[in-house]
Amino acid sequence: MSKSIVLTGITTTGTPHLGNYAGAIRPAINASKNENVRPFYFLADYHALIKCQEPARVKQSSLEIAASWLALGLDTENAVFYRQSDVPEILELTWLLTCVTAKGLMNRAHAYKAAVAENEENEGADPDKGITMGLFSYPILMAADILLFNASHVPVGKDQIQHIEMARDIASRFNHIYGEHFTLPEAVLDANAATLLGLDGRKMSKSYNNTIPLFEPENKLRKLINKIKTNSLEPGQPKDTSDCTLFGIYQAFAAPHEVESIRVRYAEGISWGEMKQILFEKINAEIAPSRERYQALLEAPEHIERQLLAGAAKARDISQPFMQTLRQAVGIAKIGG
Ligand code: TRP
Repeated sequence: MSKSIVLTGITTTGTPHLGNYAGAIRPAINASKNENVRPFYFLADYHALIKCQEPARVKQSSLEIAASWLALGLDTENAVFYRQSDVPEILELTWLLTCVTAKGLMNRAHAYKAAVAENEENEGADPDKGITMGLFSYPILMAADILLFNASHVPVGKDQIQHIEMARDIASRFNHIYGEHFTLPEAVLDANAATLLGLDGRKMSKSYNNTIPLFEPENKLRKLINKIKTNSLEPGQPKDTSDCTLFGIYQAFAAPHEVESIRVRYAEGISWGEMKQILFEKINAEIAPSRERYQALLEAPEHIERQLLAGAAKARDISQPFMQTLRQAVGIAKIGG
């Protein structure tokens, strides 16, 4: 049986946090150990340039993300783990796809539309103010990431589903003109992947500045957990588990029977202090072994670099011959060849 090709990219603009871990990294690492799947995971550093023009941050983020995935036990024998910019065929394919993509399709992209809508709120402003061609055509770059490896399944968050649909559209258009070259990808939303709330009770996100970084030292992790906002119910007063940030995070780390006994403790009026202590211990038990490996990797960046280059070599074993076929298909070929 041929393995199904699962592919996802991680934009290199920040430090991985608990929300990224429970929602995306942990499920992806588990999938890397499934022998029916061939995962392609990559650092989307060209995507990073769309939102971030701070070179030091893009560079640091690439290091932290790569170190995190390796520390958490990504199976790099089975998975192809690479940096987007090490696979130049992605950019070459982006151009071939750009030339079959309707501008009208890009006009409908949520991220672009939201940016225009924001500009239009200011009377008299240019609707395209501050919008780069990178932002406008980024779904085409994302389509190239996916189609170059003929991925069938793309695990993403809800906000990215439209981009996968666009990748399908673009692939169909190319196939229609030049022959059946591309698999049409499907988005996969992991029903078990948790969405965690952050320190202030809103969704944990870099843009809200409410995250708990994944590999904070133990004492910092404890401090951050103590900062999570709760209501002012006293010890002994029954507490509600729904909409409780602490409970939600606990659920993402504990076994179902543990979650059930904490539910009972809530009804009995567990104190917030005790719940925070329990939560800290639960998270720390899962993260601590990887935290040590993470620190060791940060001190040996050449090891990370080697892994990424080995991943890129595996990716290019596929992308180089495929790109050659695609060049031929569009009529870019040697004269007389
Ligand atoms: N755009 C995605 C995000 O912001 C990251 C990404 C880039 C991606 N290329 C991809 C995800 C290809 C899936 C497939 O989350």
